[in-house]
Amino acid sequence: MSRSLKRLLVAGGAGFIGSSFVRHLRRSRPGVEITVLDKLTYAGNLANLRDVEGSDGYRFVHGDICDVGVVDKLAAEADAIVNFAAETHVDRSLMDPYAFIDTDVRGTAVLCEAARKHEHEVFLLISTDEVYGEVLDGRSAETDGFRPRSPYSASKAAGEHIASAYAESFGLPLLVTRGSNTYGPYQYPEKLIPVLITNAIDGMPLPLYKDGTAVRDFLFVEDHCRAIEHVLVEAPVGTVYNVGTGAETTGLQVAEAVLDIMGKPRSLIEFVADRPGHDYRYALDTSRITALGWEPRVTFAEGLESTVRWYQQNEDWWRALKSGEYWDYYRRNYRPLVS
Ligand code: NAD
Ligand code: TYD
Repeated sequence: MSRSLKRLLVAGGAGFIGSSFVRHLRRSRPGVEITVLDKLTYAGNLANLRDVEGSDGYRFVHGDICDVGVVDKLAAEADAIVNFAAETHVDRSLMDPYAFIDTDVRGTAVLCEAARKHEHEVFLLISTDEVYGEVLDGRSAETDGFRPRSPYSASKAAGEHIASAYAESFGLPLLVTRGSNTYGPYQYPEKLIPVLITNAIDGMPLPLYKDGTAVRDFLFVEDHCRAIEHVLVEAPVGTVYNVGTGAETTGLQVAEAVLDIMGKPRSLIEFVADRPGHDYRYALDTSRITALGWEPRVTFAEGLESTVRWYQQNEDWWRALKSGEYWDYYRRNYRPLVS
């Protein structure tokens, strides 16, 4: 099948993956009209969308996905919604869980209701591998149950439950992607890879929780966006897709690779107190999406090298973010390792 997209509402399009998706879709399908709805939280940034600003068929609306009036109006002018909007950082979810429940659960419900009311062709919820919880052995398949262990992953799992309830009860044409840890240009410097790179540029310690042995499947953002586009266009409604590379990398391996690329000493690595409820491994079975015709193109070595270069060449972008509130958060989050 091939779904023809005409008018797309992209919620959370000013964040890291959402803005990359908008830039990608403008190039791959310039005929698709795109409206971005974004609240511009600390993680939302209009600078992420400067490449598409002013282009034909694109507009930005500043607003909250929890605002029924705004969402209803924009949904009436669209045929499909892709929802990236969320509070996304596990460590912040341990400090302020309610913000996650508001946006990731209630906000998702508001979007589902509007998509149902306006009889949209498709509703694509961008979810995460974290809904499966820690997986110490084997790989998570789409049919596995949810065992979220942080307020972030629990709120994403709850948002998915709401969306699938809309599909079951009201026939919402739902698609879900569960992506693995994504990295690349324009990622807010609170997640592992941009923290490591920007700290290394400044000669600051690279903080790793406990012993740096937690494993993630790092997915380059452009590969993730191609997967989202592929699912949006090709997938039969009612289907969930894991999206990942299958590779497994520890935090320590990432930190060492960043330092090697930059020619900096490994003595910059600092082990700090562990994250409460830290999930030590996520791993996905990606056979369903590869059968649909998607596979990653960028190796971790290539993606990390180009990401390091981007942060080196775009200091204005991230230095503006690493100020004020950021350092309050940083001081609250990182504590010395007590052995
Ligand atoms: P991000 O934190 O960079 O961006 C989130 C965006 O949502 C921001 O622009 C923010 O302003 C906006 N937003 C937040 N609350 C809002 C609200 N109430 N109304 C409207 N806009 C709101 O996040 P990201 O890393 O780009 O992640 C995007 C999506 O992908 C999220 O749903 C996340 O759960 C999912 N995801 C992320 C990763 C990852 O590694 N980053 C992996 C898998 C899935
Ligand atoms: P993160 O980027 O926060 O993503 P996730 O949502 O998967 O936790 O963290 C990725 C991994 O890196 C996770 O195991 C926690 C670890 N980590 C550190 O060791 N130090 C850090 O400063 C951060 C932000 C994460």
